[in-house]
Amino acid sequence: MELNPSDLFAEAQSLASGAQDEISSAQDTAALEAIRVRYLGRKSRLSELLSLIGKLPAEARAEAGVKFNAARQEIEQALATKLAESGGKPASTTPAGVDLTLPGIKPPLGKRHPLYRVMDEMVEIFESLGFTVALGPEIEDEFHNFDSLNFPPNHPSRDLQDTLYLPGGFLLRTHTSPVQVRTMLAEKPPIRIVAPGRVYRMDAIDPTHYPIFHQVEGLWVDENVSLADLKGLLYEFFRRLYGMSVKIRFRPSFFPFTEPSAEVDMACLVCQGAGCESCGQQGYLEMLGCGMVHPNVFRAVGYDAEKYTGLAFGMGVDRSTMRRYNLPDIRLLWENDLRLLKQF
Ligand code: PHE
Repeated sequence: MELNPSDLFAEAQSLASGAQDEISSAQDTAALEAIRVRYLGRKSRLSELLSLIGKLPAEARAEAGVKFNAARQEIEQALATKLAESGGKPASTTPAGVDLTLPGIKPPLGKRHPLYRVMDEMVEIFESLGFTVALGPEIEDEFHNFDSLNFPPNHPSRDLQDTLYLPGGFLLRTHTSPVQVRTMLAEKPPIRIVAPGRVYRMDAIDPTHYPIFHQVEGLWVDENVSLADLKGLLYEFFRRLYGMSVKIRFRPSFFPFTEPSAEVDMACLVCQGAGCESCGQQGYLEMLGCGMVHPNVFRAVGYDAEKYTGLAFGMGVDRSTMRRYNLPDIRLLWENDLRLLKQF
């Protein structure tokens, strides 16, 4: 069939103006892209017209090239202008009925658990006194938890610290004291470390006992560290934590890894030691265990027990937290009840 050049020229012209109408009423870039594909794509009528040029009578070909390309450029130009006007806005993804100007949902802000606030405070005091933080594993072995700390294999002192025994000679550590041993095995004196962490003991749960609790351990080893240093250090610690008027007392005690050993009690902050409801008429509250490092511990880690002396202490964090925030039951620290936690 003969192709009539002037019919094709007219068709190209009407394609261009049809495309421009559609472009001017397009709502978003997705609509513009669809128009571009339809009018300028490989399968578009305009592409077809361009490929027909070779089949036109020779004298019409030049004019066809000019006209078809002009139509194409008009469409391209209209698309570019519209796109620039719309700021290249992508297709709207907002479903109908959604108001993006409404305030968002505030993600709840996490906070430090009260127990860790108290633990951090204790650690910071010792850091300011020249101690550095040391950490150890919660799954320990008998050597670090007991043997090296001068607990003889069948000694009844192990009974007070019954725990969960795991296969392969491992156990859940019953105190943070194994961190003393790990540090001394790794370093030479002088040593001044504070070791916060979680410990485990076989304890029936009640308002003041929980089988998982926390301790802050301290160790200072050097030449000439004395019992006077131990007392001075702990006095200073309690003054910084509870204020200048705090009263503490040292009571003789026993730990296999210290000699002499003592426990430190603090006078109830409400009655100053007289006995009241808040301290259960006790007057004094048990705060920590401490003492001078036993020579057998130095021997276990290969230190010269004639040359070095050391002080050590270990304090509970959970009961201090209860006292600090007036919590009646230790289980409150484990319940993750936001009504409690939000208050801190
Ligand atoms: N580890 C002891 C306990 O858990 C406390 C302690 C630490 C005592 C360091 C003396 C020296 O009971």
